[in-house]
Amino acid sequence: MDFSRARLAFESPRLTLRIMEDRDATEEYAGWLNDPEVNRYLATKSATIKELQDYIQKKDLQADALFFGVYLKSNGAHIGTVKLEPIEPAQKRATIAVMIGNKMHWGKGYAAEAMKLLMDWCFNELKFDEVNLGVIAKNAAAIRAYEKLGFVETKREIAYVRYGDELHDHVLMAVKKRS
Ligand SMILES: CC(C)(COP(=O)(O)OP(=O)(O)OC[C@H]1O[C@@H](n2cnc3c(N)ncnc32)[C@H](O)[C@@H]1OP(=O)(O)O)[C@@H](O)C(=O)NCCC(=O)NCCS
Repeated sequence: MDFSRARLAFESPRLTLRIMEDRDATEEYAGWLNDPEVNRYLATKSATIKELQDYIQKKDLQADALFFGVYLKSNGAHIGTVKLEPIEPAQKRATIAVMIGNKMHWGKGYAAEAMKLLMDWCFNELKFDEVNLGVIAKNAAAIRAYEKLGFVETKREIAYVRYGDELHDHVLMAVKKRS
C-alpha cells in the first residue's frame, strides 16, 4: 500500500480531514507551534513557514505516514492536525498523534472526533489490530481525550523525555481491535 500518494479525506459530523498541502503552512499554523501553551508537551517547540512546508512535503513522500489537516465543516477553518506514523501494515498497527492548535477550540471534543475517524479507518478498512500513541504523563487533557476513545496505558517510561531542565514521564497507550 502506498499511503504517501493517497488523497484521502474523512468527514465526521463537525470535521473534515484532508492531507496537508503546501498552502496549509500558514502563519497561523506556525503560531500554534510557537505558542508555549500549545507546544508545552510537544517535541516541536518552534516552527517557521518554511519548516512547515518542508515537513508537509516530507510526510507526503513518506510511505508510512499520513498527515492530515483538521478543518471545521461549518466554515472550513483549519484548527489542527492529526497524523498516522508509522503505519505498519505487516504488524497491523499504526501510531497516531493529534494537535488542536487553535486554543479557542480546545475542550469541544474535536481531538477525539478527528482521531476517531482515523481509528475507524485503521480498524474497519485496513483491518489493523492496534492503534497506539505516546503522550507526556502531565498532558491531562490529551490523556482524557485518549481515554474517551478507549486508549489504555500499556507502558510508562519514567523521566524519559527532557524539555530543558524538566524530565517527564512518557506514557504509551493503545486501543486493540474491537471484536
Ligand atoms: C490535548 C489536546 C489534543 C486535546 O484536544 P481537545 O479537542 O481539547 O480534546 P477533547 O475535547 O477531545 O478532550 C479533552 C478532554 O480533556 C478534558 N480536559 C481539558 N483540560 C483538562 C485538564 N487540564 N485536565 C484534565 N482534563 C482536561 C476536557 O474536558 C475533555 O474531556 P471531556 O470531553 O470529558 O470533557 C489539545 O489540547 C492539543 O492539541 N494540545 C496541544 C498539542 C498536544 O498536546 N497534543 C497532544 C500531544 S500527545
